[in-house]
Parts: sequence; C-alpha cells; structure tokens
Amino acid sequence: MTEIKTYPPAPDFVKNAHIDAATYQSMYEASINDPEGFWSQQAERLTWDKAPTKIKNTTFSHPDVSIKWFEDGELNVAANCVDRHLATRPDQTAIIWESDDPSVSRHITYLELSEQVNKLANVYKSLGIGKGDRIVLYMPMIPEAAYAMLACARIGAVHSIVFAGFSPEALAARVGGCEASLIVTADEAPRGGRSTPLKTNVDKALAICGDVKTLVVERTGADVNMVEGRDHAYHTLMAHASTDCPAEPMNAEDPLFILYTSGSTGAPKGVLHSSGGYLLWAAMTHEIVFDYHEGDIFWCTADVGWVTGHSYIIYGPLANGATTLMFEGVPTWPDVGRFWAVCEKHKVNQFYTAPTAIRALMAHGKEPVEKHDLSSLKVLGTVGEPINPEAWNWYNETVGKGTRPIVDTWWQTETGGHLLTPIPGAIPTKPGSATLPFFGVQPVILDPATGEEVTTTEAEGVLCMKDSWPGQMRSVYGDHDRFVKTYFSDYKGYYFSGDGCRRDADGYYWITGRVDDVINVSGHRMGTAEVESALVAHPAVSEAAVVGFPHDIKGQGIYCYVTLMDGEEYTDELRKELRDWVRKEIGPIASPDHIQWAPGLPKTRSGKIMRRILRKIAENDYGALGDTSTLADPSVVEDLIDNRMNK
Ligand code: WT7
Repeated sequence: MTEIKTYPPAPDFVKNAHIDAATYQSMYEASINDPEGFWSQQAERLTWDKAPTKIKNTTFSHPDVSIKWFEDGELNVAANCVDRHLATRPDQTAIIWESDDPSVSRHITYLELSEQVNKLANVYKSLGIGKGDRIVLYMPMIPEAAYAMLACARIGAVHSIVFAGFSPEALAARVGGCEASLIVTADEAPRGGRSTPLKTNVDKALAICGDVKTLVVERTGADVNMVEGRDHAYHTLMAHASTDCPAEPMNAEDPLFILYTSGSTGAPKGVLHSSGGYLLWAAMTHEIVFDYHEGDIFWCTADVGWVTGHSYIIYGPLANGATTLMFEGVPTWPDVGRFWAVCEKHKVNQFYTAPTAIRALMAHGKEPVEKHDLSSLKVLGTVGEPINPEAWNWYNETVGKGTRPIVDTWWQTETGGHLLTPIPGAIPTKPGSATLPFFGVQPVILDPATGEEVTTTEAEGVLCMKDSWPGQMRSVYGDHDRFVKTYFSDYKGYYFSGDGCRRDADGYYWITGRVDDVINVSGHRMGTAEVESALVAHPAVSEAAVVGFPHDIKGQGIYCYVTLMDGEEYTDELRKELRDWVRKEIGPIASPDHIQWAPGLPKTRSGKIMRRILRKIAENDYGALGDTSTLADPSVVEDLIDNRMNK
C-alpha cells in the first residue's frame, strides 16, 4: 500500500484562523458534553425576535423520531440574511453575479438585495401567497433566484427548488408533490452557450400536473407563451411593488424549504428543513469550515437547485454578511480555464467545487490554470463524492500551489451542511479523507450484519450518527413515516446515512460510497429505482435493472440492463430511443451511459434481482461474481457476460 501523506495546517494559516487545533478539541468536547450550553451560545450567531430558551429536544428512538432545536425561538431567515446587515454594510456587495457570458457580471449590494427581496415578497403576497404556502423555483443561476428564495423566507412561504436540468415530467411531480401555489421561473436558462427553455418546460409540466400560477423572469428575452391570468411577468409586477414588506416572525421549527432527493426506493423524497437550526448550521459551518473572514469573496460553484447551493451560495454566506459569488455558466465554456478566469477576475478567496469538475479540468492539464493569477485563493473545498487522491493532489498542487488547505466536506441533502470535514486551521488533512466530525456531530460505524457499533478506532461498516445536530432535516414533506423508515429503521436509535465508511488508526473517516441502491453521478444523487421505473414505462421494455459503474470523470456512470417485450427487436435505434426516453422522463442528468440488452436478469428463486452480480459485470470484473448457486437460472450470467464482452 502506498503511504498516505498528511498535510498539517501551515503555521501562517493557523495564526489568522478562527479555530486552531486546541480550540477544535475543546469546542468539540463542549459540544458533546454540554450540547445545551454549547448550542445556546452558538445560537447567538443569529438575530432572534425571541431568543430560544429550549435548546435541544430530539429523539432518534424508533418509531417516535422527533427533532426539535430552539423550539421556542422566533426569527426570520431573510431578516438574518439581509436586514441585519443594513446597519453595518449596506453598500457592501452581497452577491457577485457572473453571467454565462464572460463579459457580463454584476455586483448587488446588501441594500439592493434588501429592496429586491422586499419587493418580491410583496409581489408574492399580491398573488395570494402567504405563510406556509409552497413556491416552486425552476430557475437559471441569476440573482433573481436568490431574491426568490429570500422572499419566500420573508413571508414564511416554503420554497422547493427544482434544478433547471430536470425534465417537465420531473418538475410536474415535484409541483404536484408539494401542492405548490406558484412557480417562479424564467424564459430561458443560458448555460455553456446553450439555453434550456424553462418556460416551455413549465408549460409542459402544467399540462401534466394542472395549472399553477407562474412568475416569469425575463432572462434572455426569448418569446414565451404567457397565459392570461396564470402567467405573470416578473418585471411588470416588480415595477410597482413596494420596497417595504415586514418580515414574518417564524418559529425556529417552521419549515424553510423542501428539496427533493432520490432514495433507494420509490419516488424522490421531499427533504424538509427548518428555519432556526438549519440557518445556524449553514452559517456556522460556512464561517468555520471555509475560515471565512470579513471582506472575503466566497465562491461555491454549485447550482442553487442542489442543497450545496442552498447552504453555501445563499443561506450560510448571506447570514454571515459575506460576499457570495453566483455563477451561471459551466467550467468548460467558453474554454476550460473559465473557473480560474472567474477566480482571477473577482479575486476569489474561498473556492468550493466538486471532484467531478476537478477531474474534468485535470484532464486538460496545468496550462489553463497557470495562465491565471490565483494568488487570492486561501481555502479550497470539495463536496459531492469521495475525491480520489490523484484529483486531490492535482487540486492541491496545481490550483492551490501546495499552500492552500483543502477541505473535503462530507454531508448530504438531509444533513443541511457539513458533518465530517477538516477545519482548515485545526485538522491535518489526508487526500481522500473527510477527516473528523464538526462540532456536535457524533459519527459511529456500525457492523451492517449485527447493527452493533464497532468501537475500535480502526473500523469499517456503515456510517450512522448517534445524535442530532441543529441542521438535520426534520421530516419528509407530508410523510413522516417515510422519514422514520428511511433513516431510523435499519439501525434503531441511529440516523443512517446510506454511506459505507472506514475509520483509520488516527480516527479519520474515509467514505467508501453508498451502500444502498443510490448512485452518485457527477456529485448528483440518482436512485437506480427511478431510472428503472423510467425505463419500464417505455412500451418496448418489460424489465430493467440499473447499477452504477466506475466512471473516470463522473465518479459513477449509469449502467442499464434492459429486457424487451416479446417480439421487440434489440436494435441500436431502440437503444438511442431509450436513452432519450430516460432524459425526457427525468432529465439530462439521468442519461444512461450504457444500455445492455439482457434476455434475462439474474434472479434468486424468490425473484429478487441480484444487483451485486450486475455491478460486477458492469465493472468488467468477471472473476469475482461470488456465489451464483442461489440463482434461479445461473446461465443468464454467462449470457450477460457474453453480451458485455461482444458489445
Ligand atoms: C451523498 C449525498 C452534500 C452536497 C452534495 C451531495 C456523497 C457527499 C462527499 C464527500 C464522499 C460524499 C455521499 C452522500 N458525498 N460529499 N466529501 N466525500 N462522499 O448531496 O445529493 O444529498 O448526496 O453524496 O455518498 O451520502 P446529496
């Protein structure tokens, strides 16, 4: 085994860092030994209308799981992200917007942000939206997306953002799923020199799920269909709206947003996050994990359609009065130096991206990076999937010049923000490890066979959490039983992450990937069951099984085994048709990488598909198929291997 190098924080960095090693130790211990005291003090990061006196009231005990933090506190999230900064930093840039077009960018001050959010909150009200109503956002990466989120928070409406890469079908399911009263969208979403017709997609979605009011931002000026009484032009309504809309006082436990995410079974779940605990978690992790200091320019390259964008483009940075950069484009357009050009142009201090982007850029070598002045960078972050050491090293050496700490942050839509992560002035890093728990986080590794905690330092098994943290999701929207069943039933008394994990002799955590039927494609979670149900919805398909396989750039690719109806012909045209079909049903992010014809699928006698075998075949690993004797018809495996090799 090659030796794993450890990178301690540089002394110069530690000098200015918020948290050093000793502080990490003592704060971590305080957070575990005295959660009430620790979190009542941390809650002072936020501005409360009514300060909480009840701090933690949580139980993971099956089946009565209940999670409440700061339950008698009152606050407004938009007031925390905007209003409270007006006294001290009205003219500071809140949002730097970098357009898809490299020649266009804008700076939005906190004062301007306040005006836009207040106006939009009044527009929502004029459309009949109030506290507790749901608003779906289906938007490009433009400042109006930030306004739309914060305006929801201002009036106590709950947003549910649907990534603009999702299809009309997927959008319709999410609009219907939360019974949204309004959709905020735009004419088009430009990205990488191309455009997604958002409003046309919304029209198609409404044809499926029934009419809902829309508010349409003009982004490109493209001609769109506007239905009288249903569709409203954003700029027209904003023109007359007042810049004064009082912030609705909300209970800390009132929901802030829903975000749909794929699981191993069934339709995507609406992950529900709270106002108080979530905001505190986003703000605190943003400041500490990125060592954010006053005046820094922070850039998270995610899309607001994912949780990373919620927590680290909008809520965390703005709660901290930061300058946050919002990027509409893609890393490879107009050329593969775009990220570095943006870092140079806006003097970015903290840069946060995904391993898939690093690998894609690494493939183009050092030159596009070295062309740019990256001297402003102080901290580099990664998130979304395990980062392979080669990509970590390239990030460190080529982008960070070997002198910037790398924070590999492990977390999930469900966790609200970072749980396992280096703190850059405190924790030595190792390439590929998310290192140690953040404050208040108690990771445990369970033996999947017995469900028992593995108590030795070195351990391998499934990753669970022993107790709650303020940023934890509170429920599955409209289905608390599903929440309990998904996260608290396999291992009673624990939150089950769905990830496998190893703990090394130093107590460092190494995520080994999902242990359920969820795959991670370019840092995006995809339920294999979802792709399967899209495939079997096609009239030619009788059965489908989908697994992940290692992919150089995406981390995992989507591998589909498809059995056709009797009389259907296995042709290349059909293969292409099925690929397009899945894109239409779910969206381009679910595009199958391989479709393999499978005259039969390996099943047990009770009819269960043996995915372990399908994964091995997809990986081209035929030596390690394991025990196939329990198969109803072992010969199907030979056929699949033949098919795989002759493809
Ligand atoms: C899953 C969560 C959290 C925002 C982005 C994805 C994987 C995430 C890491 C990391 C190894 C990681 C896990 C997790 N994951 N970050 N640093 N190292 N794996 O959010 O769509 O909710 O997916 O992403 O498998 O369970 P998500």
